[in-house]
Amino acid sequence: MTVHFIGAGPGAADLLTLRGRDILAACPVCLYAGSLVPEEILSHCPADAKVVNTAAMDLDAIVGEIKAAHAAGQDVARLHSGDLSVWSAMGEQIRRLKAEGIPVSVTPGVPSFAAAAAALGTELTLPGLGQSVVLTRTPGRASSMPEGESLANFAKTGTTLAIHLSIGNLDHVVDSLTPHYGADCPVAVVYRASWPDQQIIRATLETLKASLDEKISRTALILVGPVLKGEGFDESCLYATDYDRRYRPQNADSPWSSWSHGDD
Ligand SMILES: C[S@@+](CC[C@H](N)C(=O)[O-])C[C@H]1O[C@@H](n2cnc3c(N)ncnc32)[C@H](O)[C@@H]1O
Repeated sequence: MTVHFIGAGPGAADLLTLRGRDILAACPVCLYAGSLVPEEILSHCPADAKVVNTAAMDLDAIVGEIKAAHAAGQDVARLHSGDLSVWSAMGEQIRRLKAEGIPVSVTPGVPSFAAAAAALGTELTLPGLGQSVVLTRTPGRASSMPEGESLANFAKTGTTLAIHLSIGNLDHVVDSLTPHYGADCPVAVVYRASWPDQQIIRATLETLKASLDEKISRTALILVGPVLKGEGFDESCLYATDYDRRYRPQNADSPWSSWSHGDD
């Protein structure tokens, strides 16, 4: 018996991985985080599967469900939104399951920042403008931030920020970032990326608050940084005509000309 943690993706049912789908189809028990995981994904569960929405359950109750499945020798699919590596609460569940001697596997999912970037049709790294992406959040009622992980500290780098769980904290976002990025720095808010009611709001740090209506109060990502201008960046060397590289040696003297794919 194994508990299979599966990233369910950002919302669109067809952004679940094939591996995730196949595991779901093979598990007689499915626990899903109902606040963000779309019900359509549950259609991959066997018709007679036990399917439990954990949105209103605490950790003890969730582990209780898993222990019952363990006692019955039944595999469990555990679905969380997006990818499991960020803000999924997978870590605390795995810690409990390890203590119980219950095996786990982890299948990644499409994270919301990637779905938001896709909705914008943009790269979050552009040569000369931004070469890093910081996935972060602001403090909330249930979560403080470790010292040093302030927006102002990340802002000092000037790179692209993907700010999660913070659409209700706009004053703090704007006040922390404006001194570093400038009031005219582009911002994009993507509400429910990949859902049928997805919305994109483009603004600057100065106009952000006035650009959002109150319907956008959760499930939104705030992207900030010069890359969102989509202009003023350099072309990469990757496709430059004269760039000598492993897959495109320029002449017989190139260090790459004797390289074969088997070398790697
Ligand atoms: C608890 S976190 C889960 C993050 C998730 N594990 C991931 O990989 O993106 C929830 C936050 O992620 C962001 N989020 C999740 N799904 C989203 C979506 N479809 N569109 C925009 N933001 C989303 C929002 O900032 C939301 O407040």
